[in-house]
Amino acid sequence: MTQIIRVNKTKPEPEKLSAAAKMLASGGTVVFPTETVYGLGANALDEYAVKKIFTAKGRPSDNPLIVHIYDFTQLDKLASTVPASFFELAGKFWPGPLTMVVKKSPLVPDLVTAGLDTVGIRMPNHPVALELIKQSGVPVAAPSANVSGLPSPTKAEHVINDLDGKVDIIIDGGDCLVGLESTVLDIAGDTPVILRPGGITPEQIEAVLGKVMVDRFVYERFKDQDSNPRSPGIKYRHYSPKAEVILVEGSLTEMAAEINTRSEYLINNKKRVGIMATDQTRHMYAHGTVMSLGDRDRPETIAGNLFGLLRYFDQMGVDVILAESIDRTGIGIAVMNRMVRAAGYNIVGAGHAEQW
Ligand code: TXA
Ligand code: MG
Repeated sequence: MTQIIRVNKTKPEPEKLSAAAKMLASGGTVVFPTETVYGLGANALDEYAVKKIFTAKGRPSDNPLIVHIYDFTQLDKLASTVPASFFELAGKFWPGPLTMVVKKSPLVPDLVTAGLDTVGIRMPNHPVALELIKQSGVPVAAPSANVSGLPSPTKAEHVINDLDGKVDIIIDGGDCLVGLESTVLDIAGDTPVILRPGGITPEQIEAVLGKVMVDRFVYERFKDQDSNPRSPGIKYRHYSPKAEVILVEGSLTEMAAEINTRSEYLINNKKRVGIMATDQTRHMYAHGTVMSLGDRDRPETIAGNLFGLLRYFDQMGVDVILAESIDRTGIGIAVMNRMVRAAGYNIVGAGHAEQW
């Protein structure tokens, strides 16, 4: 049985969170909201508790988890050494959607880090998450609270669809505002590398550190002959709804023309088609179920809606989702990284497909 607890998302009632905090401290699993996506948490220092996360999600055990903290005193048990850049970045972006990968402490079980000698740590910017971690008294390992392979959950209803009956407690704290996961930045080596683009943009990190590298698998498809990616998560099918997703590149008019041709053809062949458009283009479509992801001039609105819309189209029972691309600047790189993977690298149109 999963207990569902509704809390006030801006001012969570401490007494409502106390049962969930005790559950974490005693080795149970608790789903909680963060500013990025919902997380499926367990005590990061309790291997048995962490094992439950992998079972509930059906997650491959070679994909490491991010550990969530509420203040810096929790670092001692997690990291062995942290570089100066850690505190510079934390000062700027924590609490917030930045995960930093640093050398791990021996106290962190191998299951959390998938046997790596590093650990990803983040302080989430959400009153419910912070209060929960504080009350529990333990650092909280938490991947996104979806069944492995599906889009990450940005609403409690997504979590309930995926994990009801598989976890001890789900805390409903409303919608996640960022809507995409944190940026994963590896600062354990000599040069910082972005392993996964996310809520903090490369431009924001570069304003602090100067030029940063972006891992090649942010752009490229992982192939079996590529060994040991630095972020094991990229090996797996991810963010994929049940429907087939086709990502279309090109100028706005090129994309609209391509999507209209394809949707007409698909509909004539008795397929149900969903179109992921934007506020600027939604009027350009003649067939299919047309939904806007948001405003191209405010790409954070697109980030906020992406996962929810992928799940919505599944609920509508569409067979094929035709999705427009967006610019890869700012948070656009994170949006496109998720879209490309949701599409399983199925990219068409006049664009830069060769770069993925
Ligand atoms: O916003 C987020 O990051 C959310 C919320 C719940 O905090 N969490 C999340 O976790 O997205 P997950 O497990 O879905 O993704 C974690 C990513 C994976 O791509 C994993 O490979 C990478 O972080 N990662 C974790 N620890 C790592 C490490 N030590 N070295 C390299 N990559 C690591
Ligand atoms: Mg995930």
